[in-house]
Amino acid sequence: MSAQLIEGKKISDFIREEIKLEADRLKSEGVTPGLVVILVGEDPASQVYVRNKAKACEQLGYYSEVVRLPAETSQQQLLSLIDRYNSDDKVNGILVQLPLPKHIEEKAIIDAIAVEKDVDGFHPESVGNLMIGDDTLLPCTPAGVIELLKRTGNDPAGKHAVVIGRSNIVGKPVAMLLLREHATVTICHSRTPNLPEIAKQADILVAAVGVPKLVKKEWVKPGAVVIDVGVNRLPDGKLCGDVDFDDVVDTAGWITPVPGGVGPMTITMLMANTLKAAKRSRG
Ligand code: GUN
Repeated sequence: MSAQLIEGKKISDFIREEIKLEADRLKSEGVTPGLVVILVGEDPASQVYVRNKAKACEQLGYYSEVVRLPAETSQQQLLSLIDRYNSDDKVNGILVQLPLPKHIEEKAIIDAIAVEKDVDGFHPESVGNLMIGDDTLLPCTPAGVIELLKRTGNDPAGKHAVVIGRSNIVGKPVAMLLLREHATVTICHSRTPNLPEIAKQADILVAAVGVPKLVKKEWVKPGAVVIDVGVNRLPDGKLCGDVDFDDVVDTAGWITPVPGGVGPMTITMLMANTLKAAKRSRG
């Protein structure tokens, strides 16, 4: 039997409607959620992401600014700009689009963002809060994965979740969130021997490694929930995930497509974080 499709676009649209209702309520109290997105340089993929973030803000009636800076911008100039937005009351969220040009130290930039405006959830204090289980702004893609699971009735509690990938942006935080949701979590990576064997033990399998079509049907337990975070561009220009969808679809119980699975959730969670930061700014 073919897996049930986890329709990220539909779920994301539904959540955006919920966010809009709350944002409108907040606006009627005199607080408009505000986001600034800063892009340094001209990376084509980043330009698309930044445009989509600005569009989402517009759709929800948020205050939004997009700052496009030349690739030669110095680290000091970027730090000064962040400093200005840290004390700008119109702006509740600051997002610096990654990757940054090589002469700018990513860590110095992330560290400079005020933790209460850290809508990416990348600041060390946000990461620490997530680890401890404190209320905090969560990284958007991992938060989106959890929403997809919950909203399709796939509660992680008591399940064995296997995460393939250990990046700071997805692998590690999604593992921590699954743990917080009471899953038993295994983290695998490029040095893990017998990866297919471990993956096959998963009730929930999350692939976030950036290797096109890595996960095959032999890696998947029949009926498992397969979440594909990978976005890889093939030589023919098509997008594909880290999961070989056509191979796996008859074995999995649930599966996210690429595109249209996890992807649309990321910006929606960014909008949710901006709303949360705006609510908190009321004091
Ligand atoms: N580049 C790719 N994904 C992301 C993200 O989630 N946040 C930021 N700031 N940059 C990115």
